[in-house]
Amino acid sequence: MRIMVTGGAGFIGSALVRQLVTETDNTVINVDKLTYAGNLESLAGVRFHPRHTFERTDICEPEEVRHLLEKHRPDALIHLAAESHVDRSIAGPGAFIRTNIQGTFNLLEAARAHWEGLTGPERERFRFLHVSTDEVFGDLAPEDPPFTEHTAYTPSSPYSASKASSDHLVQAWHRTYGLPVLLTNCSNNYGPYQYPEKLMPLVILKALRGDPLPVYGTGEQSRDWLYVEDHARALRHILDRGRPGRSYNISGACERTNLEVVHALCAQLNRLAPHPEYSYERLIRFVPDRPGHDRRYALDATRLFQELGWRPAESFESGLAKTVRWYLDHRDWMERVLHGSPAHWAAGEAYGREATG
Ligand code: NAD
Ligand code: DAU
Repeated sequence: MRIMVTGGAGFIGSALVRQLVTETDNTVINVDKLTYAGNLESLAGVRFHPRHTFERTDICEPEEVRHLLEKHRPDALIHLAAESHVDRSIAGPGAFIRTNIQGTFNLLEAARAHWEGLTGPERERFRFLHVSTDEVFGDLAPEDPPFTEHTAYTPSSPYSASKASSDHLVQAWHRTYGLPVLLTNCSNNYGPYQYPEKLMPLVILKALRGDPLPVYGTGEQSRDWLYVEDHARALRHILDRGRPGRSYNISGACERTNLEVVHALCAQLNRLAPHPEYSYERLIRFVPDRPGHDRRYALDATRLFQELGWRPAESFESGLAKTVRWYLDHRDWMERVLHGSPAHWAAGEAYGREATG
């Protein structure tokens, strides 16, 4: 298959591209604008592979997107390109509206034109897989059951509202035009090559620098964590076996409070890179909360488990140990990716975080 992946130089997209190139015979056309979050270094080992082509393109440019589909004639498109960081969406929502909504619209229209021109098995085979998030469902109280695929959308942040909008467009293109779409809603990912503005790499980086570790509010908010390679495997599984028009939750059913995550990271760092004078927990600081902060996410992935037979390979403990070890071995990567946009790397600071205790 010729698979077009958007956002393939980002955190999850690059994991997917590395797997598609090294574990399958597929050809990958990697479409990415290379924003601050995209990095060709994340494609280590596959960037110059004969079955990998990189196209630096902004999905907000409709003519360029249409041209790419005409040129490469993909059998499937997996759409991950997005502005992805909640704090940045609070500080400046415009880019989220453009890329996540307008960019998805451009891709849907280009994919529709391409698909309508196909015949026979090529038309049967074509899929548009849209990668979304559990944040579109809003948040849960501690006693609520996890979100299912039938939970109503109630997004809280500019980021999640823009993702919810794009999900609605994708479902509308299926219902109205028959475009064979698949939609996935995944929980929080962690692992190698994540830009150090997200909780896990940020905490690792700050701990190694001896800086305070910022915990928003009380740290009692919880997230449902999945190792990024498991997410990439789930996407491949859904592309192969998913039913067009369906959405699938992807989760490892692994809820942790933010404070538990920060303590678990500190424990790993104390073991693998001990500081001679203190344990890393000493650096934890509670800072003012994120505006509109969702309390809890939890996803029910029964449909994916039972209908498609997918299971995650990593536990939280094994994934976390691999992750901390990877960042310790790639400190130079962290410093290099931050070099391009040092002023932005903790966007939460843009709306004035001061430690409170
Ligand atoms: P990321 O920010 O690491 O990567 C996004 C990639 O998209 C970057 O390579 C960037 O250069 C590219 N991009 C941004 N704007 C673009 C544009 N206009 N045109 C072309 N490329 C552009 O994001 P991620 O964490 O890898 O997330 C990937 C997708 O998965 C997103 O759609 C996100 O909403 C979704 N998702 C993420 C998580 C998570 O925990 N990170 C969980 C569930 C779903
Ligand atoms: O749930 C899936 C989503 O997970 C994805 O759709 C998003 O793209 C991805 O960024 C992630 O969103 P979160 O907002 O949950 O991730 P983040 O790493 O920014 O924050 C995780 C939790 O940690 C959240 O409750 C806020 C908190 N936090 C975050 C940072 C950066 C802190 O307490 N301190 C911090 O410095």
